[in-house]
Amino acid sequence: MSEPQVEHIQRRIEHARRESRNRHPGGVLWFTGLSGAGKSTLAFTLEEFLFNDGYQVYVLDGDNLRGGLSSDLRFTHVDRTENVRRAGQVAALFADAGLICIAAFISPYRSDRAMAAMNAKRFHEIYIRADLRTCERRDPKGLYKLARAGEIKNFTAIDDIYEEPESPAFVVDTTELTIEQSLASLSRFVAEHFPLGRS
Ligand code: ADX
Repeated sequence: MSEPQVEHIQRRIEHARRESRNRHPGGVLWFTGLSGAGKSTLAFTLEEFLFNDGYQVYVLDGDNLRGGLSSDLRFTHVDRTENVRRAGQVAALFADAGLICIAAFISPYRSDRAMAAMNAKRFHEIYIRADLRTCERRDPKGLYKLARAGEIKNFTAIDDIYEEPESPAFVVDTTELTIEQSLASLSRFVAEHFPLGRS
């Protein structure tokens, strides 16, 4: 049986028009890292900073996507791959709509992140790095404790793998930097790659 043909929609609003109205192109800042590394905290902090600066920006976050679009998924290998596939597709749509989409997902497998990167034109993989000991000490949701006790299975870096990025566009090490310092370095990265034009 042959695959159904997907009709390519001819859009009337070119990306350049969105870009000139927004004063920046759309794109994806893909935050990957362990649970507790600081992805969500930095994503929402950066979102607020960029919003106040005049950017069109929106956060897609593992915890909120899993409450809706991915509510049918768990944490098996297959389900994580599907979760990241959906997130990558949605992030690319936001970017196409002209926004900077900050996507914060553990996204533990390299091949899944590579797929997400292929969807969007301006895609930057950002590694929010913190070693397991630090994340476990922070344990903001108490999940590491449950994972060590065997009450949660397939927990990233406990009994499931995390494949570190091999050549991320940017690294933020939250064991060394404060939130303020991390935000400062991320905002410099954004200013360099998505400079605001004149209104
Ligand atoms: S991903 O692996 O599919 O990218 P995602 O970023 O959406 O994960 O969700 C991670 C969040 O789910 C964690 O921050 C944590 O709160 C929660 N969680 C629940 N179970 C697990 C698990 N087994 N492994 C990792 N995170 C889990």
